[in-house]
Amino acid sequence: MIKILTVFGTRPEAIKMAPVIKQLRAYPDTFVNRVCITAQHRQMLDPFLNLFDIKPDCDLDIMQEDQSLEHITVTVLRQLGEIIKKERPDYLLVQGDTTTSMAASLASFYQKVKVAHVEAGLRTWNVLQPYPEEINRKIIDAVSNLCFAHTPQARQNLLQEGIGEEKIEVTGNTVIDALLDVAERNIDVKGTALENIPLNKKKVILVTAHRRESFGEPLTNICRAIKEIALKYSSGVCVVYPVHLNPNVQKTVHSILKGIENVLLINPLDYEYFVHLMKKSFLILTDSGGIQEEAPSLGKPVLVLRKVTERPEVVGAGAVEVVGTQPEKIVESTAQLLEDSEKYQRMSKAINPYGDGKASQRIVKRLLREKHG
Ligand code: UD1
Ligand code: UDP
Repeated sequence: MIKILTVFGTRPEAIKMAPVIKQLRAYPDTFVNRVCITAQHRQMLDPFLNLFDIKPDCDLDIMQEDQSLEHITVTVLRQLGEIIKKERPDYLLVQGDTTTSMAASLASFYQKVKVAHVEAGLRTWNVLQPYPEEINRKIIDAVSNLCFAHTPQARQNLLQEGIGEEKIEVTGNTVIDALLDVAERNIDVKGTALENIPLNKKKVILVTAHRRESFGEPLTNICRAIKEIALKYSSGVCVVYPVHLNPNVQKTVHSILKGIENVLLINPLDYEYFVHLMKKSFLILTDSGGIQEEAPSLGKPVLVLRKVTERPEVVGAGAVEVVGTQPEKIVESTAQLLEDSEKYQRMSKAINPYGDGKASQRIVKRLLREKHG
């Protein structure tokens, strides 16, 4: 038997880890599965556990209002260290580049328990973009015994850092596995925030923004740009913004965008409703990593509200344009997509480079290979 301790704490980790947990469950005679959530996110995590039918074996319940990076790191490191000592798994499995994943991988390294990293090798080569994720993922990859890279480019990044090729497996991104699973489900929008959105009457521009490096002026600029777009296209466009629960985001977004008729500020959506909203949108403006990976599968162009992206593959494929945080550029690029149908068609027809929905199968196959040498 191989004992796996899967650790995650935030919304995107839950989405991207769920298909792996499902695959591991398919081999009950080979894998002993333990799931520990840190609950770095609480309200934004729990609905995803229900959706994917995940019942954690332990819940560290660490989230605090406006929490610091120190709080997340220290609490996870201490509490998870004790759990790893008790469980002694063969592998600790983490995903992505959150501080939960970084602290969990370090706790595992300190206990000399092997680490396997899903979505390894993403890099911008700028330690402040995104902050603190670029350093988080470097630490995770440095202590990992198995690196599941989502693309050949991510594998190349790992090799460049001196990580042995025997540790790396190119798998595709598990977000596509989750997306394909959820996109097929029927949903009823009655009684949800989606009920009030004129999905079939106006062009919906879907917005999300939450990154720490954008707090302050960049997020203010993003909101000013959204306001300008909403006012300029008031008759034909509806902006829908599920606002991240981080108080730093809530405050800025509400102070600039509240009260504009065609801007709907709503709570974060459960995954099945968010996927439905992506499907019904005309265009997406975001600083999210996961959404850059998902949107091309749904044929939706994405403008990235950041200076750089660690996902150059979607830019190369033509599905995503990095527009930064300056209002003029955001407004100009959005206007182009609203008015230039040739450009819109080009971007929406790009092929998604992040996989075929079988990433989690490849990950579990590799873990099986480790067992059989
Ligand atoms: C975290 C990750 C980021 C990831 C993002 C996904 C780190 C440092 N950041 O950022 O990499 O892209 O999640 O969304 O790991 N809050 C709630 N309820 C929730 C979730 C958050 O109230 O369910 C509020 C709390 O006040 C919390 C704050 O948001 O303190 C910040 O949460 P945190 O997880 O520290 O940062 P994120 O910006 O969500
Ligand atoms: N998402 C969601 N509801 C929302 C906003 C996003 O379910 O209201 C999903 C989205 O489809 C993607 C993931 O959450 O799979 C992205 O999470 P986030 O942007 O918080 O994190 P990042 O990907 O930037 O780390």
